Amino acid sequence: MNTPDLSAFWMPFTANRYFKSHPTMVTGGQGAYFILPDGRRVYDCLSGLWCTPLGHGRPEIVAAVRAQVGELDFAPTFQVGHPKVFELAARIARWAPAGLNRVFFTNSGSEAVDSALKIALAYHHARGEAGRVRIIGRERAYHGVGIGGISAGGIAANRRVFGALSAPFVDHLPHTYDPAHMRFSRGQPVWGAHLADTLERLVALHDASTIAAVIVEPMQGSTGVIVPPVGYLERLREICTRHGILLIFDEVITGFGRLGAPFAAQRVGVTPDIVVFAKAVTNGVVPLGGMIARQDIYEALMRGPEQTIELFHGYTYSGHPLACAAGLATLEVLEKEGLIGRAAQLSQVLEDAVHSLREEPHVSDIRNFGLAAAVELGPREGQPGARGREAFARGLEAGLLLRFTADTIAVAPPFISTEEEIRDMVETLRGVLRRIV
Ligand SMILES: Cc1ncc(COP(=O)(O)O)c(C=O)c1O
Repeated sequence: MNTPDLSAFWMPFTANRYFKSHPTMVTGGQGAYFILPDGRRVYDCLSGLWCTPLGHGRPEIVAAVRAQVGELDFAPTFQVGHPKVFELAARIARWAPAGLNRVFFTNSGSEAVDSALKIALAYHHARGEAGRVRIIGRERAYHGVGIGGISAGGIAANRRVFGALSAPFVDHLPHTYDPAHMRFSRGQPVWGAHLADTLERLVALHDASTIAAVIVEPMQGSTGVIVPPVGYLERLREICTRHGILLIFDEVITGFGRLGAPFAAQRVGVTPDIVVFAKAVTNGVVPLGGMIARQDIYEALMRGPEQTIELFHGYTYSGHPLACAAGLATLEVLEKEGLIGRAAQLSQVLEDAVHSLREEPHVSDIRNFGLAAAVELGPREGQPGARGREAFARGLEAGLLLRFTADTIAVAPPFISTEEEIRDMVETLRGVLRRIV
């Protein structure tokens, strides 16, 4: 492959100068593997960016998108509709936690988060509680890069420079990671449910009448797989209900099977008022995101004369026909092949395998939930992030495309993987850890 000129593309969330002097390119994808320019296959340890659980080149999705582009390549969903957008919304509603059945479409997780926050404010406004404008997020949260998402989000680097653009009325819960109490927990840590009680303090501080919504990732993914303590989400639910605050689960990573249930909400038995989704809904083939609300949230906004636009919000590509075709095909395959159950089975294999790395060099913690895990490495002195980067480079040589954030390695393998592939991934990672300085 002739390397193209790399200078014009400003890469997102990437060390551009480093990449452009050490480029890592992929040129193909087949099943659970990416293909490198030299023809080598590398195992896709994070399912793309958590978005391709059915693997690459899935024939049913390819066929559905091909057929759709020939039949109807674009139609607006402002003032007209096309059948597939209604079909997909109905199908998503059937998978959603009980009582959530009204679906709004966006193109990405970031837009979906911003939409959910706006709908939360609009809902309270419509009910005569226009003073409820405050959003409570959580430290270390990633809710994408829209203005709502960076305001509610809690990753310092994503917020630092953009303070002037951030929403003014936000506060944050503490994150739930405390290695002293939960290092090497398998699945949900037993310590930490009480951290949800900080929400009561924030309610006392700001007054419930000013708070519209609490938004959390049920499992924090991007910051390095931080697993909710047993009882924590239940307590957030109780406190929100008591004070009339909407609870939003950002399920951009956990939605559509990652935790072995359609949504994390069903996995942990806690029903939020709004679920945000994206990524796996189309297996990453065409961008699509959205949010699912309780029916009465939708009904509260359906006011005024019938000809009135009820919500002044939407995107040109909300419910794009190609995304809907990809979404319908993805959900069909997930259902027909029982792949969510398979993800649940593989979760146990991943848990057993990944925790066997505990005594390997540099490993300071291992966390897992559903078909996702993180291996945290102690930083090299004076060079935070260097070990993560080295693991990435050595992983690639050894046949793994790993994802690292600073010195944390996250894995979230495709649901179509075999048990052997999961075990092989972990054994290869073991070899990588032993070679890291
Ligand atoms: C929990 C969560 N919310 C929102 C987003 C943003 O999604 P997108 O990158 O599609 O805008 C992400 C992306 O990783 C995410 O993990």
